[in-house]
Amino acid sequence: MSLLNILRYPDARLHKIAKPVTVFDTRLKKLIADMAETMYEAPGVGLAASQVDVHEQLVVIDTSDTGNDLRVFINPQILWASEEKQIYDEGCLSVPGVYDGVERPARVKVRALDADGKPFEVDADGLLAVCIQHEMDHLMGKVFVEYLSPLKRNRIKAKMLKEEREQKRDKQYATR
Ligand code: NI
Repeated sequence: MSLLNILRYPDARLHKIAKPVTVFDTRLKKLIADMAETMYEAPGVGLAASQVDVHEQLVVIDTSDTGNDLRVFINPQILWASEEKQIYDEGCLSVPGVYDGVERPARVKVRALDADGKPFEVDADGLLAVCIQHEMDHLMGKVFVEYLSPLKRNRIKAKMLKEEREQKRDKQYATR
């Protein structure tokens, strides 16, 4: 297994639309294992393939406290969403250090394929419902900050770009 590089907002590649997975082979299994390792190491509760620059409809999630309940969603579809909404303070491994409230349906019914290509359905509420919807947005090229006001989003963008410049500068000094 190996750790994958996570794209940081506002990287344009985060806005690519992911294609459905059609081949369930050892390459896919390795990608899932690497994404899971990258998510746990970060640490985070979810990671979409789009975030590691692989534009295929694949998501890994573990919302458990113990970190031993890995869920894999391939080609996920939302079959039903509740009218009832919930606001949750979301964060994202592609927007480190930023948390803000996003309103989404409180419960969703999702159909997806597992790592072997077998279909399954799940009724999700609470954090799992938030997480599934957040990660499925990534597959559509959408980052959660796009739900926030333009003012907030521009502030976040500026903060991310500043941190990126600082990291690059630190690296340059380190190699001198
Ligand atoms: Ni995210």
